[in-house]
Amino acid sequence: MYHPALKTPLCEMLGIDYPIIQAGMGFVARGPLAGAVSAAGGLGCIGAASMTGEELREEIRIVREITDKPFAVDILFATTGGKQTPVFTSDVQDHIDVIFDEKVPVLASGLGNPGPIIDECHAAGMKVLSLTGNTKNAKRLADSGVDAVIAQGYDGGGHTGRVGAMTLLPAVIDAVDVPVLAAGGIGDGRGIAAAITLGAIGVWLGTRFIATPEAWGHDNYKRRITEIDDEGTTRTRCFSGKPCRMIQNDTTKAWESPELEASIRPFPRQMANVTEWLGKDPYMAGRRDGETDIGALAAGQSSALIHEVKPVAQLIEDLMTEASATLDRITKIAAAAS
Ligand SMILES: Cc1cc2nc3c(=O)[nH]c(=O)nc-3n(C[C@H](O)[C@H](O)[C@H](O)COP(=O)(O)O)c2cc1C
Repeated sequence: MYHPALKTPLCEMLGIDYPIIQAGMGFVARGPLAGAVSAAGGLGCIGAASMTGEELREEIRIVREITDKPFAVDILFATTGGKQTPVFTSDVQDHIDVIFDEKVPVLASGLGNPGPIIDECHAAGMKVLSLTGNTKNAKRLADSGVDAVIAQGYDGGGHTGRVGAMTLLPAVIDAVDVPVLAAGGIGDGRGIAAAITLGAIGVWLGTRFIATPEAWGHDNYKRRITEIDDEGTTRTRCFSGKPCRMIQNDTTKAWESPELEASIRPFPRQMANVTEWLGKDPYMAGRRDGETDIGALAAGQSSALIHEVKPVAQLIEDLMTEASATLDRITKIAAAAS
């Protein structure tokens, strides 16, 4: 029996047992991971970013083979046509078509604004959650009608903003009138308890779920997350052109050298630079081939709290047990003081 504060409104909103959502992560978060998380009582999420529409459909099928519980798909709402006449790119439109066709229960948006399709999502019975790294964007998303906002701090893995999670979460809670989830820097149950205590209705965890057998990726990548400490990641523009938190390695360090800076190409061509320089795609080198010294390996500062690769079902149980014990301790201190 977990602490009652862990039965949050998110559980009812999404029809899940625990207030833990596994973040949509390009490449890493596919059907086997999302299915395992949902089967274990959290909400699993497929990261559609690197997929074609048909590949996304196949990952959805894998989730449904594992469980009949709810799950999410994370889409990056990239647009084309400039600020005057923005339209979703054809990749995004393919992803949108598939989620409606497949009646996906929850849509998460990691980039941009899903505003133009929110009414249609709600009409289809879908919930919509959107990531933000600052309060200004949180207000914009809330005004667009999303069901909840996910406040992702600077400490988080992958593309991140400039505000630390500990400040961002309460600032976003104050700024919007929709429920808020916490993301970034949460690597164990103590972080979940802290997020709930600060007013979040749940958590969105990325890096912690990479270190599981169910995540897609080379064992060296997963092992590296368990090895690095609190200074083992860096926020770099090296691979994608936008600030992205990655495991620090020879490539990220070399990128900071003044000689290389002189040859940097403008966004979005940085990756072409790195690919030429390494003679291979840095994402494939890191995530698929396990070349941790040179590859692009997104991970958050929460790596410092992750010491072993463990199966999803065990992980969810451990996270809940630790979050519950942390809240119990505070409840007892409060009871003793009164
Ligand atoms: C490997 C990796 C890939 C990611 N890809 C995406 C993505 O495709 N879409 C997205 O919304 N967020 C993406 N993110 C960010 C996560 O959704 C999440 O906000 C972040 O991992 C939270 O911080 P944490 O890693 O400290 O838990 C990615 C993060 C990582 C570590």
